[in-house]
Amino acid sequence: MAVYGPHCLNQGKIPTHVAMIMDGNGRWAMSQGQQRTWGHNEGVSSVRKVVCYTNTLGVKYLTLYAFSEENWKRPKAEVDFIFSLVARYLKAEIEELDRQNVFVAYIGDFSKLGDDVQESLAYAQKRLSKNTGLTLIIALSYGSRSEIVHACKSLLVKVQSEEMGIEDIDQEAFSRFLQTSSYPDPDLLIRTSGELRISNFLLWQLAYSELYFSDRMWPEFESWHYLEAVAQYQQRKRRYGTIHSH
Ligand code: FPP
Repeated sequence: MAVYGPHCLNQGKIPTHVAMIMDGNGRWAMSQGQQRTWGHNEGVSSVRKVVCYTNTLGVKYLTLYAFSEENWKRPKAEVDFIFSLVARYLKAEIEELDRQNVFVAYIGDFSKLGDDVQESLAYAQKRLSKNTGLTLIIALSYGSRSEIVHACKSLLVKVQSEEMGIEDIDQEAFSRFLQTSSYPDPDLLIRTSGELRISNFLLWQLAYSELYFSDRMWPEFESWHYLEAVAQYQQRKRRYGTIHSH
């Protein structure tokens, strides 16, 4: 087996934006004879490590898929547990995130979130608002198709009010209506747990991203697995449909 360490990355380009589908918490917990919630709890340790490591690598944007629109179909107790974990993580880690100069942002439909959760998110955002290092984007109650439909509606309002003409609509103009408008598209998507799907995550934004699937469950995803993903990314030739690599 190849041994991966930071030396593997000396030659190549570090991705600007890494997106992650943190999958496998439940299965990992069951395999340990524990409840699914235990897996989410351990998943927070992976989040902590991944954020720190992302910073070390010099990646500028990290988007984490913490809760999908479809996840609302889970039992209420599990849903509440995941949101309380996110709120607790932001509270417990706020000093450390600040020390690491992390800026935090969110994408998703927050209208369904409880007031207490919304307050925790807003507090962390405000507290870290002056930071200029890594931008940590947490996707919560997020669904990419809904985001696209919402963007279409906002765009139509502009056309109806004649602030925009149909001829002004191109890919760049459209992407300004997405919640991710301030961030570059992900260079690398990592999904854990061996599932080979995108699961309604950043469908527009992932058009040219490199995809990496790890067999590790999210709670077992360590810094060397992350390095392995970045090392593979560095081997890929990104041609964006042309014959030249970038
Ligand atoms: C997917 O595993 C994981 C989730 C739906 C929740 C992810 C949440 C965290 C890691 C904790 C909080 C996040 C932050 C940003 C602090 P799964 O339950 O679908 O696992 P399974 O596929 O094995 O059932």
